[in-house]
Amino acid sequence: METKRIYPDTEAKKEQVLNEAAELIRRGEVVAFPTETVYGLGGDALNSSACAKIFEIKGRPADNPLIVHVASVQEAKKLVKNWPWEAEVCARQFWPGPLTLVLPKVDIVPDITSGGLDTVAIRMPSHPLALELIARAGCPIAAPSANISGKPSPTEGEHVWQDFCGKIPLLIDAGKCKVGLESTVLDLSGKIPLILRPGGITWEQLNAVLGKVELDPAVEGNLPVSGSFKPKAPGMKYRHYAPQGEIVLVSGDKEQRIAQIAARLNSKKAGERIALLCFEETIAALKEATPNGDQSLISKADLMFPLGSRNNQAQAASRLFKALRLCDQQKISLILAEVMEEKGIGRAFMNRLKKAAGYKKDKL
Ligand code: TXA
Ligand code: MG
Repeated sequence: METKRIYPDTEAKKEQVLNEAAELIRRGEVVAFPTETVYGLGGDALNSSACAKIFEIKGRPADNPLIVHVASVQEAKKLVKNWPWEAEVCARQFWPGPLTLVLPKVDIVPDITSGGLDTVAIRMPSHPLALELIARAGCPIAAPSANISGKPSPTEGEHVWQDFCGKIPLLIDAGKCKVGLESTVLDLSGKIPLILRPGGITWEQLNAVLGKVELDPAVEGNLPVSGSFKPKAPGMKYRHYAPQGEIVLVSGDKEQRIAQIAARLNSKKAGERIALLCFEETIAALKEATPNGDQSLISKADLMFPLGSRNNQAQAASRLFKALRLCDQQKISLILAEVMEEKGIGRAFMNRLKKAAGYKKDKL
């Protein structure tokens, strides 16, 4: 299949691509489009065969449900059995935006969309192109992140192109996604609101408006080893975002972090390819730590990916997935990644980083 890649950089192109994409979705096809979090692989959420295509193209396990994207609160209410006050407050405060609400579904939502669960995950994205696409398609759009299952989520049109060129009819390429990590998934189907996946809207923000919000144990990686354990967000049990190389988390105070990185670089083995995913301050300190401008230590790193300043958590969050993809492209075998405090967006950043590292606790 030929994949059209359209850059909506003029009003005319925007009009053309939105109409084309909306028409494809109405016909039961699957298209890739930008959201403020990551790119989505979208199809008509109420059409079982369109959703089946999404699972097939992505190589996604059938028990991992899709997020349904809507363009208004009224549209969301039509998909659920009840709309509790928590949903109302969240929608008013955080929609459109990176927050997904899980609520008991009505029958018009096909079982395939919800992965066989009796709940549905809904979000109203804030990216203008996503909102306009949903409105023009005239149906809610089911969309997982537009990456092949197991790869890092796509934060640029180029990443979608790498994964799905030839497999979908259309990619709307609007460049970089602002948030760069997926939406927060908040389960409102139980007694107490429960975060199933930390993301663009933080626990702190949710607590401030809802009072009491809990964090699913699966988020922290406290997953029992036995196969019988079922996390509430089925996606959390899969090893997502996994680069080919091994990830080692770099933590501690500044001196400890520098020492850890230096030790790894100094003991570099033949054939090993090392990447540094570090804050600018650490990279500067590492350069200073090498005596008399001797670059021999730092030059042992095969890839240096600055995450931005330590003081800008949001920027580091938006760069993580790109960094992980680049590590694969450059055949990196060891990734030394600096940790972030698990507060605010740092909780989502660390969740993705630890998942990518396969939750190897001994490496922490
Ligand atoms: O930011 C995002 O949420 C992006 C963009 C495209 O909107 N989408 C996204 O979708 O990240 P996906 O499919 O990659 O992740 C959806 C997550 C999975 O962990 C899935 O298990 C969970 O949401 N989920 C979906 N429906 C659910 C439900 N009914 N109950 C519990 N978890 C659900
Ligand atoms: Mg995903």
